[in-house]
Amino acid sequence: MFKVGDIEIKNALLLAPMEDVTDIGYRKLCKELGADVVYTEFVNSDGLIRNNKKTFKKLEITEEERPVGIQIYGQDIDAMVGAAKIANERKPDIIDINAGCWVKKVANRGAGAGLLKDPPYMQKMVEEIVKSVDRPVTVKTRIGWDSDSIMIEEVAKRMEDAGAVQLTVHCRTRQQGHSGDPDFRWIPRIKEVVDIPVAVNGGIFTAQDVKNAFEETGADAVMIARGAIQHPWIFREAKELLETGNLPEDVSFEERIDTALRHLRYEIEVKDLERQAVIPFRKYYSGYLKGLYGASKVRQSLMVPVEYEPIEEILLNYKADLSKQVELQDAE
Ligand SMILES: Cc1cc2nc3c(=O)[nH]c(=O)nc-3n(C[C@H](O)[C@H](O)[C@H](O)COP(=O)(O)O)c2cc1C
Repeated sequence: MFKVGDIEIKNALLLAPMEDVTDIGYRKLCKELGADVVYTEFVNSDGLIRNNKKTFKKLEITEEERPVGIQIYGQDIDAMVGAAKIANERKPDIIDINAGCWVKKVANRGAGAGLLKDPPYMQKMVEEIVKSVDRPVTVKTRIGWDSDSIMIEEVAKRMEDAGAVQLTVHCRTRQQGHSGDPDFRWIPRIKEVVDIPVAVNGGIFTAQDVKNAFEETGADAVMIARGAIQHPWIFREAKELLETGNLPEDVSFEERIDTALRHLRYEIEVKDLERQAVIPFRKYYSGYLKGLYGASKVRQSLMVPVEYEPIEEILLNYKADLSKQVELQDAE
């Protein structure tokens, strides 16, 4: 059971924190498509305590997306405590500590997965944060720094002792980055040493993967990152599979296109300028149009406009073309 503060969900599906991805618009969409809990991207603790405007924007959460977690990261305990207090004022359902980021500029400075190099320090950090806020504190980490230093059982125990109320484990080492097979065998071992709920993360890309991950690991929750960028329906589909045992039908081309446009409108709503939503949105088209006839040409044409209207025109024309093709096929 994913029991965190007031949240209590069986087989919970979590949308992972993702930098430049899990903003308000995207979180709203994933929520509509069945994500149980969503997270902000990681927010830099130094930026928060220095009052950086851009960093503060990342803290914004809305009522409709609850339960929502704010994730913070940093190396320095005082800065992290200061950042946690600021995050706490936003009243998120969860304050999550990033102890898993692998990128050099974060991990080599002792933040993110860098915390795994010094578990007693990581414990102290979480302890101090827990003492300073009234929201539930959770931790997202990896199984270890590299294959020679996997000590996730010790880390998990330390996190529980520090007062973290839930742990998410990306079952790869820092050295693996995002590649190589995640090792889910650690999850049941972790669950033997702690009582707090444990979420499994890493390499879960389909509804079937979600079901397998629950069955193989006994985890209380599954956290999905890249699988949701490629296919945000993964949450709805996984729920259907878990509830009925049946694999859901493919998402129709109409729904793919309508969802892409709805998602883009959500992004525009929260950005100051339309182009600030339209340009970064280009990364989603390969997922939204996956498997559709003639998609690569359409995708190319979507790389040009910087405003919503021409994008809508391209996509609605494409939808009409695909409908005509279906009619022709039916007539044959
Ligand atoms: C674009 C991108 C941005 C990410 N940003 C964050 C982040 O801000 N905080 C975090 O804890 N993990 C971050 N991650 C890691 C994911 O949350 C997740 O742990 C990792 O991608 C493995 O899950 P997956 O195999 O489902 O993608 C990011 C991953 C990606 C692909």
